[in-house]
Parts: sequence; structure tokens; C-alpha cells
Amino acid sequence: MADVAGRVLVDHALEAAKNAHAPYSRFAVGAALLLTDGTIVPGTNFENASYGLSLCAETVALAAANVAGRLRDVVAIGIVGGAMAPGGGIDGDGAIYPCGRCRQVLNEAADLGGRDIIVYCGSADGSILRRHLLSELLPHAFGPADLGIG
Ligand code: THU
Repeated sequence: MADVAGRVLVDHALEAAKNAHAPYSRFAVGAALLLTDGTIVPGTNFENASYGLSLCAETVALAAANVAGRLRDVVAIGIVGGAMAPGGGIDGDGAIYPCGRCRQVLNEAADLGGRDIIVYCGSADGSILRRHLLSELLPHAFGPADLGIG
């Protein structure tokens, strides 16, 4: 199910993806967080010549929210990605879903805020916009309570 907030977030994510540092995979990913007061926090993937050190767009956006002291205020995230096109754009007609690690990192924000996070997954060409809840994408999540915290 699509909605206006999802479209706005995926559009911000697409804009962020233009700044992807992804010279190795040539796959650009953008993410945009929506905070409780309407603030949007973008992120993009940040690869490294030591490939395994690369950071995903979602994790970069969440780290930026944390720097601003806003990790507990994350309401939703929009994600989009696709192959870098020669002209500087991004090609892709498939919806991008967060990787397993990013789902777990999102769970930290969800737990802190005491709310499920809405996850909008879009395609770069704008043809697909799907709305999910983090709890659907990461059921039975491991979290602070399992450590006796919170
Ligand atoms: N990537 C993300 O940024 N987020 C995801 O959820 C999946 C994958 C990035 C990592 C790498 O830079 C590129 O996509 C190809 O795997």
C-alpha cells in the first residue's frame, strides 16, 4: 500500500542515492528517515576498498539520527536503490528491501522509541512503493530486553 509520506520519503532517498559512494558494486542505495517532528534524515551507501567495511544507506541514516540525538524519534524509513546509470541517474524497476543487518539496526531505534517503524520500499523508476512494518520484516527480533535492559 502506498501513501504520500512513503512517496516523499522514497523521493528523498532517491536524491540521497545520487551521492552514493559505491564504486565497487555500482549499486546506489538511498534511505530517508522520518522523525516525529517531520524532520527527514537522509543516508546513502558508503563503500570501502576493503569491501566488507562498506556501510549501508539505512545504517548511515540511523547513525546520523543518533548524532542529532534523535534515534528514539524514528517513525518511518524510505529505501530505494538500483544500478548506477552512466548519466548519473539510478536504474531499477524493483523495490529494495533493507538487508538483515539494517533490519536489526532499525530495531534498535524502534525499541528506543517504543514504536514499530514503517518501512517504505520503493523502486528507482517510481513504479513500486510498498509499505511494511519493521515487525513484519524482522519478527521475533533480538533486542535490549533479551539483555535485561529496558
Ligand atoms: N546496501 C544498502 O545500502 N542497503 C541495503 O539494505 C542492502 C545493500 C548496499 C551495500 C552495498 O554498498 C550495495 O548496496 C550492494 O550490496
